[in-house]
Amino acid sequence: MVYPVAVYGHPVLRKVAKDITPDHEGLSDIIENMWETMYKSDGIGLAAPQVNKSIRLFVIDATPLEEDFPELEGFKRVFINARIVERTGEEDIQDEGCLSLPTIREEVKRPSQITIEYLDEDFNPITETYSGFAARVVQHEYDHIEGILFIDHLSPLKKRLLKSKLNRISRGEVDIDYKILTPVVATRGKRR
Ligand code: NI
Repeated sequence: MVYPVAVYGHPVLRKVAKDITPDHEGLSDIIENMWETMYKSDGIGLAAPQVNKSIRLFVIDATPLEEDFPELEGFKRVFINARIVERTGEEDIQDEGCLSLPTIREEVKRPSQITIEYLDEDFNPITETYSGFAARVVQHEYDHIEGILFIDHLSPLKKRLLKSKLNRISRGEVDIDYKILTPVVATRGKRR
């Protein structure tokens, strides 16, 4: 089942997501549906808050980019209850996009190396250190479970320049081929 993707302005994207336990209801279906949703919308990562679930879960399959970024070879994982425990390395700048911010692409500065502790799909504890583009993808998805979006890393000026685009996104006025979930606006019977 393909979930609609929550877009900019939806409050779920701003919540700090909660840890889950192995008996979390429907977990294996949720993970399956998240893969399906991510592939359907041509994403390389998807976090549970983006499908309106405020839980610490994200999935990444960055293998479509492995020809350009060798560090992404075979990089397909499920991350549960993740915590980034160290950010090191030089700051690195790369273009990013996000399924919750359709039509926006901007350069984002991030540390080039991180260490993360998480549980895999079978709740085995894992600690890994990533660098290069892998570190970037993990930080982007990790931000989602912390209620952070990549535009939060931009300068105030750049953010101001995106304002009208962001307003259009939150009203669902974007031409994309996946289903989205826009914020519910209380209209109190008024219609424009
Ligand atoms: Ni994103």
